[in-house]
Amino acid sequence: MREIKNLREMYLYSLKAKSHGKKVGFVPTMGALHEGHLSLIVEAKKKCDLVIVSIFVNPIQFAPSEDFGSYPRNVGKDKKLLKNFAIDALFLPSADKMFPDGFKTFVEVEALSKKMCGRSRPTHFRGVATVVTKLFNIVNPDLAFFGEKDYQQQLIIKQLAADLNLPVEVVTLPTVREFDGLAMSSRNTKLNPKERKSAAILYKALSLARREIEGGEHDLNKLLFRLRSLIGSEPSVRLDYLVAADPKTLQEVKKIGGKVLFALAAYLGKTRLIDNIVVGE
Ligand code: PAJ
Repeated sequence: MREIKNLREMYLYSLKAKSHGKKVGFVPTMGALHEGHLSLIVEAKKKCDLVIVSIFVNPIQFAPSEDFGSYPRNVGKDKKLLKNFAIDALFLPSADKMFPDGFKTFVEVEALSKKMCGRSRPTHFRGVATVVTKLFNIVNPDLAFFGEKDYQQQLIIKQLAADLNLPVEVVTLPTVREFDGLAMSSRNTKLNPKERKSAAILYKALSLARREIEGGEHDLNKLLFRLRSLIGSEPSVRLDYLVAADPKTLQEVKKIGGKVLFALAAYLGKTRLIDNIVVGE
């Protein structure tokens, strides 16, 4: 596994592989790797000749009040994990090379970025869209792999790749979960034992939505009320939002029918977690 910190070296490495006809797969991450990340790497290895993983805790996707400073970081452990997966290169750019003084250009995906997480994190997705565009320009992958766990994020990245004619295919993969259904997340390591136990209520609520709809429930307001009450029964969980929305536009829906995205964000102490499922045909 080659470690690359220099942006130009990364660019040339990928260019060379492509000039030899290799299909380049890319898995961008912020590190503190878990099985969710690893599932993306496994798929990238299946679909591509060469796999590049990046670890970069992107400062511009965190608001000043958010957890950039305390975001879990363990590059040493990540490197050990990655060695077992025989990836080709690990890209570790520094913040001052990615965002030098005088950096002024941002990528904004309208509409999608304002909904759901965008309401409580108004600058988050422009930070994500900007860094992912830069990473795509540097790594120049044929395929890039993202998790459905960050449903809104993968939709935004698909839109930006299409709108800006980026020559990359964005592949999304299902959410990997813990034994009790909690979506794997680097932030789960920040939960204390009590919070960790309570966090299982989030997927329980989403699973209840699926069961109720499959069982014929048609009253969306009644269902959302039940889900919110269930989550509310767990005193250490503070719901940020829970919505039923169109899986393509993220527009909130008023009725159950066709495919419906149930998405939520909740605080456990200071830790904000997100999760979602898509139900229906
Ligand atoms: P990070 O949270 O590290 O996630 C990196 C990738 O792993 C994302 O595509 C995310 O959706 C995926 N992922 C995380 N948890 C997952 C799970 N439980 N199952 C499946 N996939 C999962 O998302 C980011 O980093 C950043 O915003 C980034 C795209 C790297 C831009 O900075």
